[in-house]
Amino acid sequence: MPLLEVQDAVVRFGGVVAVNEANFTAEAGRITGLIGPNGAGKTTCFNVITGLQKPTSGTVHFDGRNITSTPVHRRARRGMARTFQRLEAFGSLTVRDNVRVAHDIAAGFRGVIRPAGADVDALLERVGISDYAQERADSIPTGTARLLELARCLASEPRLLLLDEPSSGLDDRETDAFGELLASLASEGTAILMVEHDMDLVMSVCDTIHVLDFGSVIASGTPAEIRADATVQKAYLGYSDDVEGTRSDLDAIGDTTVIPAVEAS
Ligand SMILES: Nc1ncnc2c1ncn2[C@@H]1O[C@H](COP(=O)(O)OP(=O)(O)OP(=O)(O)O)[C@@H](O)[C@H]1O
Ligand SMILES: [Mg+2]
Repeated sequence: MPLLEVQDAVVRFGGVVAVNEANFTAEAGRITGLIGPNGAGKTTCFNVITGLQKPTSGTVHFDGRNITSTPVHRRARRGMARTFQRLEAFGSLTVRDNVRVAHDIAAGFRGVIRPAGADVDALLERVGISDYAQERADSIPTGTARLLELARCLASEPRLLLLDEPSSGLDDRETDAFGELLASLASEGTAILMVEHDMDLVMSVCDTIHVLDFGSVIASGTPAEIRADATVQKAYLGYSDDVEGTRSDLDAIGDTTVIPAVEAS
């Protein structure tokens, strides 16, 4: 049974159908990609999973329990953690204190009372931002701030980690290190669900990919299956097999760093 199961999720904002009968899963020990053009509904799906957005219809199951109506903080206690596309750290605190706050809250939930210092330093080290420990969070580069958000998530030792565009702002070397970190987290049993526009990263680290377009899941499969999927090609790049002179596969995905945004029409 998958750790996370989203079934027939629909989210309507007035006349806009942001999520349309979406079905997808995420499993323990696996990295799952949730990809799609701008406005496809990826962040809205994260909001449904974490409880920030009530779905118009549909269900979310976590660890076999229906959590569709469970408040955000209870989902967090059960083992969900997320990062935000729009960064959400405490700007006036240092990087270290940001992680310390997250650590202390999580430790309080677990009833563990012990000095946080070594744990916090280990988290900063693990995500690779120890050098920024004493900097204020509002003064660090965007990529570093994303890693700070990740460290704050890891402080709660989540079973499901939801990452919304985690690599934006990272350079190539940092992105490689980030991919290795994700693989290491998954190898420890964490389920990772990642929204990401960097297709090189998605194709190299994900075990399974779900593709959203206009709120609907148009394809699910391994990176190789997604690359070869004609529907995905059309949604992303505006071409398909049946148009003369166009390409017949998604070789471009994985060679190009970022899939171009497609205007919603
Ligand atoms: N609170 C809201 N009220 C009204 N419409 C919304 C709201 N949140 C999202 N939308 C709309 O729902 C659709 C999906 O938005 P969402 O942010 O989930 O897309 P996304 O796939 O995360 O896009 P991006 O890649 O740009 O982050 C868009 O048309 C967006 O304008
Ligand atoms: Mg988004």
